[in-house]
Amino acid sequence: MGLFLSLERSLALMLISLIAACTLSDCYDPLDPNGNITVTFDINQWIPEGYVARVTIQNYYQYRHVDKPGWKLGWTWAKNETILSMAGAFATKQGNCSSFKFQTPPHSCEKSPVIADLMPDALSENKPDGCCHGGLLAAWAINPSKSFSSFEMTIGNLVTNPNVQAPINLTLMAPGPGYTCDLIEDTDPSVYSDIGGKRQLQAYRTWKSTCTYSSFVANQAPICCVSLSTFYNPKITSCPTCSCGCREADKNTVSCIREGYSEPESDSFDNNDIVQCTDHMCPVRIHWHIMTNYVTHWKVKLTISNYNYERNYSNWNVLIQHPGFSQSTTAYSFNSTMLPSFGFSDEVALFWGIEYYNDELLYAEEDKVGAVSTQILLRKDLDSFTLRNGWALPRRIYFNGEDCQMPLPDTFPMLPNVSSSLKPTNPVFLLCIYLTFKRLFT
Ligand SMILES: *[C@@H]1O[C@H](CO)[C@@H](O)[C@H](O)[C@H]1NC(C)=O
Ligand SMILES: *[C@@H]1O[C@H](CO)[C@@H](O)[C@H](O)[C@H]1NC(C)=O
Ligand SMILES: *[C@@H]1O[C@H](CO)[C@@H](O)[C@H](O)[C@H]1NC(C)=O
Ligand SMILES: *[C@@H]1O[C@H](CO)[C@@H](O)[C@H](O)[C@H]1NC(C)=O
Ligand SMILES: *[C@@H]1O[C@H](CO)[C@@H](O)[C@H](O)[C@H]1NC(C)=O
Ligand SMILES: *[C@@H]1O[C@H](CO)[C@@H](O)[C@H](O)[C@H]1NC(C)=O
Ligand SMILES: *[C@@H]1O[C@H](CO)[C@@H](O)[C@H](O)[C@H]1NC(C)=O
Repeated sequence: MGLFLSLERSLALMLISLIAACTLSDCYDPLDPNGNITVTFDINQWIPEGYVARVTIQNYYQYRHVDKPGWKLGWTWAKNETILSMAGAFATKQGNCSSFKFQTPPHSCEKSPVIADLMPDALSENKPDGCCHGGLLAAWAINPSKSFSSFEMTIGNLVTNPNVQAPINLTLMAPGPGYTCDLIEDTDPSVYSDIGGKRQLQAYRTWKSTCTYSSFVANQAPICCVSLSTFYNPKITSCPTCSCGCREADKNTVSCIREGYSEPESDSFDNNDIVQCTDHMCPVRIHWHIMTNYVTHWKVKLTISNYNYERNYSNWNVLIQHPGFSQSTTAYSFNSTMLPSFGFSDEVALFWGIEYYNDELLYAEEDKVGAVSTQILLRKDLDSFTLRNGWALPRRIYFNGEDCQMPLPDTFPMLPNVSSSLKPTNPVFLLCIYLTFKRLFT
């Protein structure tokens, strides 16, 4: 049938595109080459022996968010600085302030303070704008208005003023390890708008550092894998065995303990997951099922399953690279957006949960896993669409910014030789479904 006349892509080509960009290593993410978390210190006021600064943590990662228990920011003071007071966040330790005799005790006298965010319901008389999100930062492509956090601090105990020096050795736990921050450097002063944008205010001095994530530095085992199935072949391609670790031999227990990543200094951030015992041992599995082949469209069911017994994933996101996303795409039960593909031939779509409906991927219970799913309707580009050679299967999938383990192309469910059963479904039927969903969801 002419419907299946389309570009053929060889398995070899696919393999190359899968391997071309390095996966779990220290290299940057080719799908988000500009991603970073930028930390800005704006000095807005000099005071005797010190200054008042506003610190902003801005997440520029398109699809990597900062989850519970939230970020922690640390640095080392260059001189004898002391944090006299802080609003919108707190230093985890006050340290030794015994040399401050006849004044209100400083907030923190630590040489290397560690700052954490306040909860939204924190009782604080002075909450600066953009503070107090419990350390959570949304991904930039999903919710830019919640992708930053700010706090204010008053710094004292400096003799030479305004010859101040930026702190050194910035560290960011977001929440675990994995981020490496550049030197904090002087930059052009930040400019803020005031009076509804009619007036501009300018910081006295601005210091900046960018922090970038590497799963190699995080020493994190893979957290997700991909399984595949199609309507045209009863074969289900499961996740590669040992994708995220191997289950212990002849162990038939229901739950397994899986090491998340090793923590150099324990920060009470325990990352050993208790997961359902599976051959892949991944906390998260993403299943792509090619459901239906219509004349002008095709439909996929995407299911994300949580195999953890104790961990919910709030504000999860899934990134999928597939050439079919160049055409109009409708996800019925997830929010979605297209991302720039940075010169890759295959388009990149980002999916995340709908607030109060499925933005929380719940943990597994005794006999069932927590799961969220959606159907995705894609328009066909008749010049390229084909079910051959696994074309309709995804090229690459990320969960929460982590690359998921894909099955090898030679295990993909293949198109059988007899294609009589593959005739597209009646277009009138399709139109009915399409219009119903359009009315319901747009
Ligand atoms: C950090 O991200 C922003 C926004 O994408 C970008 O403008 C900036 O150049 C990045 N910084 C670095 C050092 O990559
Ligand atoms: C820091 O304080 C100590 C003791 O008060 C003093 O000896 C030292 O010179 C100070 N350092 C700087 C860089 O001001
Ligand atoms: C605290 O600081 C004071 C003065 O700088 C010093 O004398 C004292 O030994 C310090 N105490 C501790 C426990 O480090
Ligand atoms: C900054 O970090 C480097 C590398 O970890 C370390 O060698 C150096 O001593 C640190 N500097 C300060 C002042 O803590
Ligand atoms: C996960 O979510 C469920 C339902 O909202 C909640 O009852 C449970 O306490 C959560 N568990 C964790 C570890 O956050
Ligand atoms: C997600 O979709 C819902 C309804 O479809 C919409 O109300 C919400 O604003 C969307 N959320 C984001 C972050 O785009
Ligand atoms: C499909 O056809 C090819 C050659 O036409 C043949 O080699 C192969 O065995 C067939 N596969 C099945 C499953 O019939």
